[in-house]
Amino acid sequence: MLAVHEDRLAAAVARLGSENAFEILARAREIEARGRRVVHMEIGEPDFDTPEHIKKAAVDALYDNHTHYTPSSGMPSLRAAIAEYASRFRGIAPGWEAHNVVIAPGAKPAIWNTLSALLDPGDEFVYFDPAYPAYASAASYLDAKIHAIPLLESRNWRMDLEELERRVSAKTKVVVINSPHNPTGGVLTKSDLEFIAQLAQRFDFLVLADEIYSRNFYLDSPYVSIASLPGMRERTIVVDGFSKAYAMTGWRLGYAIMPERLARTVTLFNNNTFSCVAAFVQMAGIAALAGPDEPVTRMNEIFRTRRDRLVNGLNQIAGISCLLPEGAFYAFPNVASVTDDDRGLAKFLLEGGGVACGGGSSFGAAGKGYLRFSYAASLDDIDWALESIAKTLPKFAR
Ligand SMILES: Cc1ncc(COP(=O)(O)O)c(C=O)c1O
Repeated sequence: MLAVHEDRLAAAVARLGSENAFEILARAREIEARGRRVVHMEIGEPDFDTPEHIKKAAVDALYDNHTHYTPSSGMPSLRAAIAEYASRFRGIAPGWEAHNVVIAPGAKPAIWNTLSALLDPGDEFVYFDPAYPAYASAASYLDAKIHAIPLLESRNWRMDLEELERRVSAKTKVVVINSPHNPTGGVLTKSDLEFIAQLAQRFDFLVLADEIYSRNFYLDSPYVSIASLPGMRERTIVVDGFSKAYAMTGWRLGYAIMPERLARTVTLFNNNTFSCVAAFVQMAGIAALAGPDEPVTRMNEIFRTRRDRLVNGLNQIAGISCLLPEGAFYAFPNVASVTDDDRGLAKFLLEGGGVACGGGSSFGAAGKGYLRFSYAASLDDIDWALESIAKTLPKFAR
């Protein structure tokens, strides 16, 4: 029998990234299991329960025996519901149709399978830094040539557009954007999006717009998707899902919307990997879109209150400065005057202060000297965490 030695792993495995937040969560749970209080601000998931009508739809669907395989692209009724909702929410005209939508068990596999359908080794791929790790992990695994454009704190965590313009060329195949942004909470302005759209048309590249936080949005102006700009519907892949807006992280339900020909190829990847998403989970998704929007807006208001409390509190601690995030549910404070070992500091705050957060450099080199706090925690927890950070931070050996 062949032994599975490490050296038998595919070389490409070494290029995979991972989400550090899951490791911090595991450590935080160990500390908690020993009876110590830990405030969880490390992981990107709403702490709310999934709304009742969504849970009920899933339970009813189970009892109605919706427990069989479904098409690899997703159930036609969910694809149609998403096409209608997403076109309406983003003002897409003419609207997307069901054949533009591909369902996946989360936005993350939708990203993986879409990039797998697009990138050959050596293809030029542009994203941004700091970033949610899944884009670079998939693109490196596929052996694309990767360029990371820095996001600038001085531009409210928006992309350095001059650098983007320098980096893209006729060889660029895909540019990823993510607004509202994980880990900084930054939001691209309409004029940023117009600039990127012009480049996309000039150099003929596709834009993968990760809009999973489009409902976690705190500006008074309406949310703008790059797909709604002239000429962009046919060259944009919108990634979205149910995890963040409906507090459905564990259900695993996401999607991507794209030109029909590409949707057929991404479906082939779904077919080859997970086959399909559980039928009763998809029916819960239909209920989420058809049901009242009030739970989504209510959760968002609570996030906004927490954001204000957390950011005000952080800015009162010596050595920390934090911009007010405009979307998502993360704060990304600058701690560079304390240390550039952000991951070491995050570990110290957890071990010594019971506050679980992430080091900015886990999201890329440009995150060095920052921390990421997810404010998916109660106001009481946030207050406790702020007090603990104020006490623990000065003890960190620089
Ligand atoms: C920017 C971004 N995109 C996509 C995802 C994936 O979400 P899911 O796979 O739960 O739908 C996340 C989750 O943290 C995220 O932060």
